[in-house]
Amino acid sequence: MNQSAKTLLIVYHTQSGNTERLAKAVAQGARRIHGIRVRTARAGRVSAEDLTSCGALIICSPEYFGYMAGAIKDLFDRTYEEIRDSAAGKSYTVVICAGNDGTGALTSIERIVAGYRLKRVQDPVVCRGGVTESDLERCRELGQTIAAGLELGIY
Ligand SMILES: Cc1cc2nc3c(=O)[nH]c(=O)nc-3n(C[C@H](O)[C@H](O)[C@H](O)COP(=O)(O)O)c2cc1C
Repeated sequence: MNQSAKTLLIVYHTQSGNTERLAKAVAQGARRIHGIRVRTARAGRVSAEDLTSCGALIICSPEYFGYMAGAIKDLFDRTYEEIRDSAAGKSYTVVICAGNDGTGALTSIERIVAGYRLKRVQDPVVCRGGVTESDLERCRELGQTIAAGLELGIY
């Protein structure tokens, strides 16, 4: 299997650091699996090529005003036309960090990735009301599970 297929890309945005903590926990869990390259990047620094050249994608967004973070939306806006066909079938899931809800951020992301025809391989993690150790552990487990799937070649 080539190196791209064994790369897990964790894309996030954050203002006050909460979503970044979740994204880093996902990466920590993923690094428990040997043979997988784990890359964590702010959405603003991610290109269309980064999206097409990874084997799986985990999108980590705070909820702002009942929607995904603007920087995550900007990533979709910048890349959709270029990769709408080449990204089809790629494995993904979502991590949401919210004050008390998260539904709007999650559904807005799911609606857009349907256009890319990505394949959701694990249930999303939604964290509410501050990041707890339990949230971090859920994110580590998610990262580990996705990385294990990549390593086995099932994602
Ligand atoms: C501008 C703004 C809008 C927000 N809107 C929502 C919202 O609609 N629903 C919600 O549950 N939390 C909302 N929150 C709370 C954030 O989702 C929450 O504080 C989250 O942990 C922020 O993540 P971050 O530290 O990665 O930026 C909002 C916060 C900000 C700053």
